[in-house]
Amino acid sequence: MPSTDQTHVDPASAPRSASGEDAAIIRHFTLKDLPDSFYDDPYPTYRALQSTDPIHRMPDGSLFLTRHRDLEAIYKDTTRFSSDKKVEFAPKYGDGSLLFQHHTTSLVFNDPPLHTRVRRLIAGALNPRAIAEMEPGLIALVDRLLDNMQARGNADIIEDFASAIPVEVIGNLLAIPHEDRAPLRGWSLAILGALEPFLSQEVQTRGERAVAEFLDYLRRLVADRRRRPGDADRDVLTRLIEGEGATGERLSETELLQNCIFILNAGHETTTNLIGNGLELLLRFPEQRQRLIGDPALIKPAIEEFLRYESSNQLGNRRVVQDAELDGVTVPQGTLITLCIGAANRDSEVFAQPKRLDIGRSPNRHLAFASGAHACVGLTLARLEGRIAIGRFLARFPNFAAAGPAHRARRVRFRGFTSLPVTLI
Ligand code: HEM
Repeated sequence: MPSTDQTHVDPASAPRSASGEDAAIIRHFTLKDLPDSFYDDPYPTYRALQSTDPIHRMPDGSLFLTRHRDLEAIYKDTTRFSSDKKVEFAPKYGDGSLLFQHHTTSLVFNDPPLHTRVRRLIAGALNPRAIAEMEPGLIALVDRLLDNMQARGNADIIEDFASAIPVEVIGNLLAIPHEDRAPLRGWSLAILGALEPFLSQEVQTRGERAVAEFLDYLRRLVADRRRRPGDADRDVLTRLIEGEGATGERLSETELLQNCIFILNAGHETTTNLIGNGLELLLRFPEQRQRLIGDPALIKPAIEEFLRYESSNQLGNRRVVQDAELDGVTVPQGTLITLCIGAANRDSEVFAQPKRLDIGRSPNRHLAFASGAHACVGLTLARLEGRIAIGRFLARFPNFAAAGPAHRARRVRFRGFTSLPVTLI
């Protein structure tokens, strides 16, 4: 079957009655206390939900959506589906907590007007020219990491490579001094870990502490940048401080600090996982690896396919703020919705042979960066990082091989590895 697969309707994808096995999967489905097998491979569960119960009601009354067309419709409709998370996060974190303040002030979890103001400021610094100018520095960084790994003959792809790239890129974007960057990944992981649908007291405490330490650091950095502003065309922090010029509104101190934290987090673990997941897929699918080695120009569609196949960000959320209709069913105001990107990206209504990794797939309308008003602001940068990191890694080590078991992080929202040991040949 060709992989030119615009929205063809696969009869097998229409909701059907559940087989005994699917019915059991659906009946027991919850995001709490998931078995290891789900973290290893959530796709059979997603497939069962998508083919038999695509608008699935969870035990808590919220909806779990798995179809591409439903996600697209919701992303587009910001009138009915809000990104504001105050209602959800107040009971989750406690409305006096720093985690609550952080997440409910981040642009991604807001509607206009805060969302519009902050998004405009960030997007302005991530224009195509600014990103193109980052390329030589990025190549030099990646080559330096590859040199270090080559000298040793083995590496942990996550620790030694994938996680080392985004921290430098985002650090440069906010002009964070190099010597200050070491704690950024730990803070970011702790804060993002607390976004899991269910969290332990320990994870919550770690997240709370990370926001406090991050804020403490940023207060000093911002005070310094106010005294010595950077280049507002390039430095996102200077742009956020200066706001939109004499006529524009400035961000409050809390909005400024919390959105700096968000930007540092948003481009961090997601891009680490794009690089780690992409290289792991090349280990798992040797014929696709050979195809890419034979035709390095395929790196562009390959990155899109890695994003589709193992989306770094698997889940998103919205809240219904005006009664809405989904597939003929009325969804009342107040309903919480989980959008399963990982499932939508394997929807056979949109992708032919969705279980097949095809690095030349075209078109590839995946939703790894979401779509609509909140579509990822950093997608051009993430794609560039992915292309340079994976393309140059493969050119240097075409025969890299697994050197031990890979370990996946036990998280449902952010999909990626904590460790991926390889020998480099
Ligand atoms: C592979 C890497 C990445 C993936 C998969 C990813 C994914 C996403 C997704 C799915 C959203 C939408 C969330 C929602 O509304 O539910 C988002 C938003 C966002 N991302 Fe990314 N992202 C990546 C890299 C980056 C990078 C490198 C940056 C910046 C340096 C970045 C900055 C942002 C920002 C600022 C938003 C909020 C946009 C808004 O609310 O208007 N992301 N990202």
